[in-house]
Amino acid sequence: MNRVIQYRRFGGTDVLEMDYVAEQTPEHDQVCLAVKAVGLNPLEAKTFAGDRRLRLVAFVQRLIHPQRWFEPAASRFPRGVARDFAGVIEALGSDVTGFAVGDEVLGTLRGAPGVDTRGALAEQLVAPVSDVVLKPAGLSFDIAASLGVAAQTACGAFRQIALTASDVLVISAASGGVGSLAVQLAVQRGATVIGIAGERNADYLRSLGAIPVAHGEGIKDRILAAAPRPVTKLLDCYGGEYVKLGFALGLPGRAIGTLVPSPGAITRGAQFTGSRHAQPEDLPEVVGLVANGTIKVTLAHVYPFALESVRVAYAELNSGHVRGKLVVSLS
Ligand SMILES: NC(=O)c1ccc[n+]([C@@H]2O[C@H](COP(=O)([O-])OP(=O)(O)OC[C@H]3O[C@@H](n4cnc5c(N)ncnc54)[C@H](OP(=O)(O)O)[C@@H]3O)[C@@H](O)[C@H]2O)c1
Repeated sequence: MNRVIQYRRFGGTDVLEMDYVAEQTPEHDQVCLAVKAVGLNPLEAKTFAGDRRLRLVAFVQRLIHPQRWFEPAASRFPRGVARDFAGVIEALGSDVTGFAVGDEVLGTLRGAPGVDTRGALAEQLVAPVSDVVLKPAGLSFDIAASLGVAAQTACGAFRQIALTASDVLVISAASGGVGSLAVQLAVQRGATVIGIAGERNADYLRSLGAIPVAHGEGIKDRILAAAPRPVTKLLDCYGGEYVKLGFALGLPGRAIGTLVPSPGAITRGAQFTGSRHAQPEDLPEVVGLVANGTIKVTLAHVYPFALESVRVAYAELNSGHVRGKLVVSLS
């Protein structure tokens, strides 16, 4: 039997349970892993909270894929939690090539939130081989587990807003899980980056290569004062008023990407982007940059794999002020 974190109803962190499930066997295109670490993302807490917008996405998915209406309702609960993982391959499906038992890997479970009931917070995980990449030996399991969603989101967003080396890019929530990686990736691609976070993160943002600007009243003037040249792109990793800020800075909608869209932002022409625009080569590229030290990953906390610790971890993530990433370690 394997321990797994699941939930059977929507709500706060108290809906999370530690359950025991039977060992799984990988199908033809799947691998089975002993999970060593799991990276957490804010969307997961929104998903188990039953966020209305995500439930709407699940509804729309069922309209697009009508066969989902015929799934037994019970199959939608219990649901697993978390997408990003790192671990060691224990078994391979018959069609899997390029991997061997004992390989250290990382990856992210791809699938629409609220539709996909799998979760990475488990001692054993079966995943499609397309969701898995090899982990360089020098990378710890904890760091490796923090990369999947953030890497695919940053790379996908930069593809969508067509980031180039000549851009002056503003990034909101630049000290968070996605933002801290996006800042470094944009700098590595030659862009000038203005990072928005709280005052306490100014030195941290400088260490990532960004020009720091504090959030709050008067932000547009602070950005204009800090920018060495006119701002050309904005990546919003926070939501709220940042798309409006992009328009106020004179940017066209195609130059503004948001990970947290609102109907107003989309109708004004801003781009809803992130992992939806990722390509298979994105995660391996970022893994390489982290492994060779070009991109640094900050783990704000590493929690043990225990129910109360996972609940505390998601409560910390919900605070909205985590610097870098939170990881649950199973090592
Ligand atoms: N579309 C997609 O594909 C996609 C993928 C991943 C994530 N997301 C979404 O993108 C958002 C960011 O994810 P994440 O993992 O990076 O979140 P996160 O790690 O929780 O972001 C935390 C950061 O937000 C900063 N912050 C707090 N208040 C702010 C404000 N008023 N203005 C600007 N920054 C502020 C904090 O800095 P201070 O502590 O200094 O305030 C903190 O470092 C989430 O809503 C997530 O659900 C979307």
